[in-house]
Amino acid sequence: MKITVVGAGAVGATCADNIARAELADELVLLDIKEGFAEGKAQDMMQTATLLGFDTRITGSTNDYKKTAGSEVVVITSGIPRKPGMTREELIGTNAGIVRGVTNQILEHSPNAIIIVVSNPMDTMTYLTLTSSGLPKNRIIGMGGTLDSSRFKYQLSQHLGCSPSDLNAIVIGGHGDTTMIPLIGHATWNSIPVTNFLTEAQQQQIIADTMVGGATLTKLLGTSAWYAPGAAGAALVESIVRDEKKLFTCCVSLNGEYGQSDICLGVPVVIGKSGWEKILPMNLTAAEQELFNKSADAVRNMNEVLKTL
Ligand code: 2OP
Repeated sequence: MKITVVGAGAVGATCADNIARAELADELVLLDIKEGFAEGKAQDMMQTATLLGFDTRITGSTNDYKKTAGSEVVVITSGIPRKPGMTREELIGTNAGIVRGVTNQILEHSPNAIIIVVSNPMDTMTYLTLTSSGLPKNRIIGMGGTLDSSRFKYQLSQHLGCSPSDLNAIVIGGHGDTTMIPLIGHATWNSIPVTNFLTEAQQQQIIADTMVGGATLTKLLGTSAWYAPGAAGAALVESIVRDEKKLFTCCVSLNGEYGQSDICLGVPVVIGKSGWEKILPMNLTAAEQELFNKSADAVRNMNEVLKTL
């Protein structure tokens, strides 16, 4: 199994580190445009192999896509991250060109790859990857909802005083501060509705904190977060390479599901060896469906910007 992570910045490197530690690949390529950067990070990670006890061979490449040839899964993290005060959407002008170029070069050398898109604005970058590559839709997966759901569980756990691992909770819709939809009414603490334990005010606080989870970290760190985004990418890789059929919320192409078409948006999907294998339907309330439709409108407007670039 060969896996490539494009972009050796904090998110890409963390994702690669998680992939190596879990031995999801024999061969892992880290590629970056900055001279020597990916090679340096790859060497640094390889020097943890004996300490951490993994057997994955990690190599770095400065923009030489030949080294990525034959990759079965590719994670695209390339592009500029946001600075404090910036929205993910403001990155579109720079990141669209980068992601389009990366996708073309990846597919030239790995035509059968499943692609996980992490770059922002993630919903639009996923749509761009799908429409510009012409790949079967199941092979293009946007990571956003996986990360946002993990952040949602973290926020819930803080209020409930419980282990985040005991929670079942998902965020659907877009991966934007105003477009994501934490479904608190469907969230459970080991099958018990979390709403049994939270006041209305606490619920609204958890939803609000989840939605600005990325922005809060950007303010604290001076750049966007990396541990959870990297781990979310690696969790999807794991479900693909081990054919785990785990349920994640991911940004995928909708063709009538959840009342939307010609868009990539976050919904619950099963992730296995073919990429996203099926979209799971949910009984959304009228209010939740309304939020989903609004989220789709905002993402569609952002997708329209692609035509002007
Ligand atoms: C985040 O929310 C990088 O979009 C990513 O932290």
